Amino acid sequence: MRIEIRNLHKSFGTLKVFTGLNLTIEAGEICVIMGRSGTGKSVLLKHLVGLIQPDSGEILIDGRNIVGLSEKELYPIRIRFGMIFQNGGMLQSLNVADNVGLPLIELRGADRQQVAGKVSEKLALVGLAGRENQAVSTLSGGQQKRVAIARALAQDAQCLLFDEPTAGLDPPISATVDEVIEQVNRDTNATCIVVTHDLISAFTVGTRLHLLHEGKVAESGSPEEFQASKNPIVKEFLSRGVGIEDHRTESRINVKRLRANKPQRNDSPAQEETTSPDVKKSE
Ligand SMILES: Nc1ncnc2c1ncn2[C@@H]1O[C@H](COP(=O)(O)OP(=O)(O)O)[C@@H](O)[C@H]1O
Ligand SMILES: [Mg+2]
Repeated sequence: MRIEIRNLHKSFGTLKVFTGLNLTIEAGEICVIMGRSGTGKSVLLKHLVGLIQPDSGEILIDGRNIVGLSEKELYPIRIRFGMIFQNGGMLQSLNVADNVGLPLIELRGADRQQVAGKVSEKLALVGLAGRENQAVSTLSGGQQKRVAIARALAQDAQCLLFDEPTAGLDPPISATVDEVIEQVNRDTNATCIVVTHDLISAFTVGTRLHLLHEGKVAESGSPEEFQASKNPIVKEFLSRGVGIEDHRTESRINVKRLRANKPQRNDSPAQEETTSPDVKKSE
């Protein structure tokens, strides 16, 4: 899915969130959107699925402008997106398979038999093969995030939206979430949009990075281009480590070192779960 945002304006009362924002996301890429708290990252994701309408501007999804569409017209567009919420959005009383498969049964009228195969296939994709019958409440935070990804994939999402996917996770668990995002992107070619203030995650997964600042995109580029950027807004953002409770942020990000330390492409994303499935992890 290719997304093009043109000259987006949005205010809430006197608060100007977007003042002519332009952003292009190519099909199949992992797009990372960074910015300080309150710069409109979450609001931007909500615009993409029509949950918030802009004051003006265009949002083209594969060439079609979705601004001003009715709820009915938005529905077929919305179901092409999978949203991975910060808390995973799981129904804790249900098992893994039902969390992944129930939306297909209840919203799309699929039958249980058909759904079972699809559920298992998507769980395998996120490194949770064989966990169908496990209660979601016994999964770790990182594992619940994987279930949320599997659920989006089961609904054939072509674009996955991640809002702060590593927030609140310990560094090694954050790394496994990064790996799952990269692996799913590779295996399904779904476009991934990752909103984050976690610089390590941003520089690890991002094929293209964008920095929101004062209502616009202040800079767009590859991780290497960001690292070398002379733009004072970028330099300040990277050097101040973006603040907020992020213990993984370093004052200077060395892209080469990050890349060198990155796990090999053929590594399993499921390295965090080495204990038996019924043991709740402490993460
Ligand atoms: N529905 C809303 N009504 C009024 N203000 C909102 C609404 N949603 C977000 N905002 C404000 O818009 C700004 C951007 O919010 P948000 O996108 O959540 O920031 P962040 O970049 O931290 O995700 C914030 O100041 C927030 O308080
Ligand atoms: Mg947010």
